[in-house]
Amino acid sequence: MTGGMLGMLDELTRLRDEAVARIEAASTLDDVEAARVAYLGRKGALKEATARLAELPADQRPGAGKAANEVKTAIHNALAARLQIIERVRAQTARPAYDITLPGTRRPMGREHPLRRAAAELIEVFARLGFEVAEGPEVELEYYNFEALNIPAEHASRDSFDTFYLEGDVVLRSHTSPVQIRVMEQRQPPIRIVAPGRVYRPDTPDATHSPVFHQIEGLAVGEDVTFADLKACLTLAMRELFGPQTEIRFRPSFFPFTEPSAEVDVYAEIGGQRRWLELLGAGMVHPKVFEAVGYDPERYTGFAFGMGIDRIALLKYGIPDIRLLLDNDVRFLEQL
Ligand code: PHE
Repeated sequence: MTGGMLGMLDELTRLRDEAVARIEAASTLDDVEAARVAYLGRKGALKEATARLAELPADQRPGAGKAANEVKTAIHNALAARLQIIERVRAQTARPAYDITLPGTRRPMGREHPLRRAAAELIEVFARLGFEVAEGPEVELEYYNFEALNIPAEHASRDSFDTFYLEGDVVLRSHTSPVQIRVMEQRQPPIRIVAPGRVYRPDTPDATHSPVFHQIEGLAVGEDVTFADLKACLTLAMRELFGPQTEIRFRPSFFPFTEPSAEVDVYAEIGGQRRWLELLGAGMVHPKVFEAVGYDPERYTGFAFGMGIDRIALLKYGIPDIRLLLDNDVRFLEQL
């Protein structure tokens, strides 16, 4: 080591540079503290150097002392600056990974499918008339889809219920009427149920046909349920659905599971125009159907009806083509 004033100044400069470099390389508070102790501590390098000031000739001491003070200040400043940087980095990384002041990412808002909406509205209307919801399987036994409903095999009436046959005696139900049987097998009158759900028929798709569509079945059974109850019930329901001016009319018809049977037309305002719409099949539950479920046909009477939910959705929401309901094109669904 060079002695004297110049040697002293050299050493101080070297010390300062070394200290500042070490401090700037420190990445933790502990590193910074270790550097502080090493240079400014009671036994630190700067203390050692200043202790040797006393060895200098008296006239050189003030200059060297001043230089030592400057080094001390420089190291202090470097320590303070480093602490600040480390603190800032720590604060940044401790901050949550999101910024609550940014606008959020919007999730596309879903909405109820028109079929669901129509079904929900029908269920609601019939619920107010005392009907509860019942369900049955879409993959159904021939017995429930046909026999128990008084539609024997090989009988001509099966032709009007064109059906997808699966294996053996298993079919895709071609109407919701089998739910009538399943409910009556399980319970005793009084019964008032509606059964909404999918049904299947091997139809070629066009604007009014789809091999899968939806029906809602109604069934009321009790000790003195009459045709007048059927009329009143359907009149009220159709007025709820299509407005208070709505009228209904019954045309004689045939279903194997009802007697008498009727096609029910609804005179309603659709798209600003009042006209007759063919909407339902209905009738009084056939005694053979009661026999199939073990009800006494002398004691109980009942009415049943069935209507297409798809058709009602098309009419209510002014949709021109049934296929639009099933294509699952969001651009269409968003318009409703
Ligand atoms: N199940 C019949 C059909 O699909 C409709 C219907 C239901 C008729 C109940 C009368 C009674 O066409």
